[in-house]
Amino acid sequence: MLNKTVTVFVAALSSSLLYAAPQATPDAAQGAPAAAPAGTGSPMTPVQRADSAPQGSLKNPYKDDDADVVAAGGKLYLSYGCNGCHGGTGGGGMCPPLTNDTWVYGGDDDTLFRLVAYGSQTLQGKGYSRKAQESVVGPMPQMGQLMKTDDELWRILTFVRSNYHGSPECKFGCKGS
Ligand code: HEC
Repeated sequence: MLNKTVTVFVAALSSSLLYAAPQATPDAAQGAPAAAPAGTGSPMTPVQRADSAPQGSLKNPYKDDDADVVAAGGKLYLSYGCNGCHGGTGGGGMCPPLTNDTWVYGGDDDTLFRLVAYGSQTLQGKGYSRKAQESVVGPMPQMGQLMKTDDELWRILTFVRSNYHGSPECKFGCKGS
């Protein structure tokens, strides 16, 4: 009786796993990339995505010259209320600007994604520390918890990148800082 239940459960589980991975290519064995690019595949919340990806591996699938993604990201930025703290285009307000070359924890995609997904307190609990200082220092809330998918957060970050006006070499974090 118990065995039968377990078998049925396992069968259901494996068929749902198969269903969840429709993009797997038959010849993936040859020269397959080590990991699927972040931001693709089945949707996850930002927190789930950050939890499941090794540190440093998250990469924005969008480019900030993609006007449609930037426009969609701008709407999401406003709808989640990022503007309340960071200003309408991220130039700062009561909180640090997102458009200059000072990056509190680092300016790479992976770090920014995790900061917004977890908020700064949880991020610090995971071993990150402030390495640069803006004029305002305070906690960033765990905004990623409000978002339905990681894709929403990538779009928001694409919008943020599109408003960058610091020195070009520091757009994704200055070397050595
Ligand atoms: C309640 C105010 C508040 C809201 C709302 C908020 N933030 Fe922040 N954010 C902060 C603070 C404060 C920091 C600085 C964190 C620190 O020093 O630990 C920060 C830091 C950041 C940084 C890093 C900036 C840097 O210079 O390194 C990014 C990127 C960011 N926020 C994006 C967002 C996005 C995107 C949203 C909306 C989804 C958002 N924030 C909503 C307060 C806020």
